[in-house]
Amino acid sequence: MKQAQKIADNIYFVGGVDYNVRNFHGYSTDKGSTYNSYLIIDEKIALIDGVKEPFTDEQIEKISSVIDISKIDYIISNHAEPDHSGSLPKLKELTGAEIYTSFPNGVKDLKGYYGDLGYKEIKPNDTLSLGKKTLRFFPTPMVHWPDNMVTYLEEDHILFSNDAFGEHYATSKRFDFEVDLNETLKQADKYFANIVLPYIPQTVNALKALSNLQIDMICPSHGVIWKDHIDKIMKIYDDITNYRDGENAVIVYDSMWHSTEKMAYAIGNAFASKNISYVLLDLKTNHISDIMTQVMKSKYLAVGSPTLNNNMMPTVAAFLCYLKGLNPKNKKFIAFGSYGWGGQSIKQVSDELEGLKYEPICDLIKVQYNPTNEVLENITKTIAEKL
Ligand code: FEO
Repeated sequence: MKQAQKIADNIYFVGGVDYNVRNFHGYSTDKGSTYNSYLIIDEKIALIDGVKEPFTDEQIEKISSVIDISKIDYIISNHAEPDHSGSLPKLKELTGAEIYTSFPNGVKDLKGYYGDLGYKEIKPNDTLSLGKKTLRFFPTPMVHWPDNMVTYLEEDHILFSNDAFGEHYATSKRFDFEVDLNETLKQADKYFANIVLPYIPQTVNALKALSNLQIDMICPSHGVIWKDHIDKIMKIYDDITNYRDGENAVIVYDSMWHSTEKMAYAIGNAFASKNISYVLLDLKTNHISDIMTQVMKSKYLAVGSPTLNNNMMPTVAAFLCYLKGLNPKNKKFIAFGSYGWGGQSIKQVSDELEGLKYEPICDLIKVQYNPTNEVLENITKTIAEKL
């Protein structure tokens, strides 16, 4: 039987740990994920969030290792996305508990997914007493869905933050001080870049709404609980929402016969000549969700594609589509690539980047066939002069 893990007095982790998930809506979850759920035992018993549907039995076993599951009085649904609500129909059947969710969007979304399970509407700043403990609710719309909210346990100073402050990281440990901190922070960066990034203004509003709370623990719905390193996860959110990008560069490209690749290296030399750190990311070997983490933290973005059948390479098109959705702001860009005839891809790349309101560093960098050393040196020199 799977066991609940105690995280504080009368509070238990009863979520699912998914060691095997490797793709989350196109986001490569190389360390798996967790679907966190928390059980709070007081005069009344509350469950914070469901789990992804295939983890329903795991959640039920964990709850049942602590209490008779039928004793749950309230289920708080901070977010209707199915990774946090998939188990709700079964939980409702087993417990008859009232399901509290944000109004109007939580109610609308849960009804849309599961029909009418009988929802209690939560409005901003509503509270729910469990006896000695009190839950207070804060809507956090569009971080990252319209229905999102977070729940604060007032007496214990615990924030159940749902998707905010999460990271996709499967581990048997529950706390930040029990795991590799560098890996955790790396996954938190990646999570922000791939989930939260389009919603920076809404994240700023949410952080403001929570700024007066004393927070001793942050219990997100993915990954580990922040306890000893709350300052570090807060710093990630503070830096990103204040656009403190590094003075560094990302060079993303695909190449057919190494010509565009040689140009990528020549562009790297230009950044190096100005002491600007850069990273070269070939789309054949780097996942777009990892690339986004680098792009989020960089000031310069160079994107290269050869021309294939009058178009950019499909890998480059996929990257630019993903980039457009996540919409990181304020980048300076270079569009480059090689071609045999036509050469349309470079302008196509440039148009996409201009569409994001990025500022071009230089004219299009185009080379027919194979760039000579002289051509490559010229590319380096031309770009370096503009940096
Ligand atoms: Fe982790 Fe928006 O669901």
